Amino acid sequence: MTVVVLAGDGIGPEVMREALRILEKVAPDLELEEHAFGAQAIRDTGDSLPEETLAACEASEAVLKGPIGDPEFDAAEVRPEQGMLRLRAELDVYANLRPSEQGQTSILIVRELVGGLYFGERGVREDGTVYDTMEYHPTQVERITRRAFELARGRRKKVVSVDKANVLETSRMWRRVVTEVAGDYEDVALEHMLVDNAAMQLVLATDQFDVLVTENMFGDILSDLAASLTGGIGLAPSASLSDAGPGLFEPVHGSAPDIAGQGVANPMAMMLSTALMLEHGLGRVEEAARLRDAVWTTHQRGGDIRTAEFGDAVLTELS
Ligand code: IPM
Ligand code: MG
Repeated sequence: MTVVVLAGDGIGPEVMREALRILEKVAPDLELEEHAFGAQAIRDTGDSLPEETLAACEASEAVLKGPIGDPEFDAAEVRPEQGMLRLRAELDVYANLRPSEQGQTSILIVRELVGGLYFGERGVREDGTVYDTMEYHPTQVERITRRAFELARGRRKKVVSVDKANVLETSRMWRRVVTEVAGDYEDVALEHMLVDNAAMQLVLATDQFDVLVTENMFGDILSDLAASLTGGIGLAPSASLSDAGPGLFEPVHGSAPDIAGQGVANPMAMMLSTALMLEHGLGRVEEAARLRDAVWTTHQRGGDIRTAEFGDAVLTELS
């Protein structure tokens, strides 16, 4: 089994190093292949997702990716984020699973990842007006909804679908399709919620949520909020899955250039993304559980430790 490793920018290489150490411990047979991606790839090749990297990802069993982004390119024509969006689209990893866990609270955000505002038509009109458009085809809504309901069956059997149906045309279609799909899952409860209310409910009554399914941009925003309610963004992993072909596994957090290179970044989100890869990407449920348990045990011990020390502690836990 080949795993493509894209270390990323900023704190990416530091957190990836620790994640790979523990991955090699629990699954020594995996073939790890590192490829160029992100800001460094732009500097070297002019493209944040070079063709040979994309080809390697497509041919792999799974892609493990660190955070990308670099202030050097904030105003540039070619930015690391474009390669990341392109990679998601090329792999068609439409189902982005963002679990948040802490104590009694366990929420799974299922974010549509390859449609909506991120991929709609955009441009500048003659009069200087700039526009981005939100577009969805009903089939895109149907497939993400089915994923959410399937996942809910293995959990507390409750789906909250988040939209803005009081304003947006795409949301009205979204609501109609979700309601239709729900007919095939009568054992799972469905509730529709407007996105502004969902933000408030997440803060005020977190535990009412089990699986939350939503479009790309709403999911981006709500997943940061959910992460902040359950230990912070440093702990939040994600899995992005297609119907066939490799999944993409990456932390929710960014490249944190302000603390890069200091050895103080929290590698937990990267490590938990690695566990998600073992589970959802490679079907290696046992190794995933071992890794996840070791990471959480280390976390619960507490203490203010550096990136590599956290890795050492998880390794000790695993041996
Ligand atoms: C995320 C990130 C990305 C997104 C950015 C870096 C493009 O915020 O994965 O949540 O908006 O999808
Ligand atoms: Mg985000």
